[in-house]
Amino acid sequence: MRTQVLIVGSGPSGLLLGQLLAGIGIDNVILERVDRDHLLSRVRAGVLEQGTVELLDEAGAGERMHAEGLPHDGFAVAFDNRLHRIDLHALTGKRVMVYGQTEMTRDLVEKREKAGLTTVFEAANVALHDISGSPFVTYEKDGQSHRIDCDFIAGCDGYHGVSRRSVPGGALQSFERVYPFGWLGVLAEVPPASHELIYANHELGFALCSMRSMTRSRYYIQCPIDEKVEDWSDGRFWDELRRRLPAESAAAVTTGPSFEKSIALLRSFVVEPMQFGKLSLVGDAAHIVPPTGAKGLNLAASDVRYLFSGLREFYADGSTAGMDAYSGRALARVWKAVRFSWWMTTMLHRFPEGGAFGQRIQEAELDYLVHSRAASTALAENYVGLPY
Ligand code: FAD
Ligand code: PHB
Repeated sequence: MRTQVLIVGSGPSGLLLGQLLAGIGIDNVILERVDRDHLLSRVRAGVLEQGTVELLDEAGAGERMHAEGLPHDGFAVAFDNRLHRIDLHALTGKRVMVYGQTEMTRDLVEKREKAGLTTVFEAANVALHDISGSPFVTYEKDGQSHRIDCDFIAGCDGYHGVSRRSVPGGALQSFERVYPFGWLGVLAEVPPASHELIYANHELGFALCSMRSMTRSRYYIQCPIDEKVEDWSDGRFWDELRRRLPAESAAAVTTGPSFEKSIALLRSFVVEPMQFGKLSLVGDAAHIVPPTGAKGLNLAASDVRYLFSGLREFYADGSTAGMDAYSGRALARVWKAVRFSWWMTTMLHRFPEGGAFGQRIQEAELDYLVHSRAASTALAENYVGLPY
């Protein structure tokens, strides 16, 4: 079998790339390790930048997002028992869209199926070969071995995928920071505490009030890295969440049974360059950010935009200029989001080693942030997404 672009992984980056390529007649196949139900049940991101919304529209998969997603003009930062609103729209002229990654993935999968494009779910032992010559990929499905030859490979297989590990040793340099805490997240069928997101700095640790709709809430609290989900009953979670919010927000939290509860560890990670031979790394395969700035999915989308433009140029007129520029263009935007996510994380979480000095510095920074239009604007323009 042969295809033009072989895509490893059907997360948001793989699906989005596949849809955009198919839209201009470039043939592609996606190989995905897990089954379809597993893929459609993962709960992750919730905030889309305007640029991500536009890319979904370009891929023809934005209809339900516009009907059901919630455009947000601002969010609140909470500290010292008070809420301070950051007016994203007044400060930048832009807004963000609250729409779950789970829903976006479903829209893209259904679109792909309707268009009759090939996705191989439960593809085992995916292996990349001859990536700097004539690339091909092998995999196993139902006990049978298969081979697909291609022009290019897009490694869209996330942080734990096979693509990054297929690059010969020494060709990539990685940069990493691991944070000394995680996020315990809960999803519940209850109305959100506020119609906008609340990012809270509290002496007991960070808390975030988010949502998936006006009847479904997503909450997170900072927790130690060795915390066990089983130790957190719903009751314990709701009590701890409310302790970390200003009184008026705590009183507005509607509690109820959770139907998803998980712990995510926080890290910043970047690999350079993001390409090797005919292989390009896209999204979480190349970089990870802590979720505090809501940037992971949006960076995956901006990588897709740059790679799509390189591939389009190659197939339209044979020029490799766009493909050659992919890593440099993507990394310039990636590092700014890495910096922003690190900064938001540092400002809002309790660090075990921070001590009383660290706490006063955070208080001064938050006070400056909400009282200086310049500082609020810097936060807002990063949050809505820097230009491409
Ligand atoms: P992934 O979604 O990881 O997809 C990779 C795919 O590749 C998966 O389907 C996987 O099964 C498959 N795969 C892996 N290995 C193989 C293999 N060997 N062979 C074949 N297939 C393979 N981002 C935001 O922008 N905003 C937010 O609000 C936000 N909140 C988050 C909250 C949490 C709790 C978490 C955990 C993440 C959050 N993120 C957020 C980050 C966001 O979810 C990721 O950045 C995004 O999923 C990256 O997409 P991707 O397609 O690059 O990778
Ligand atoms: C979410 O709703 O899951 C979410 C929102 C904002 C973030 C991170 C996660 O910064």
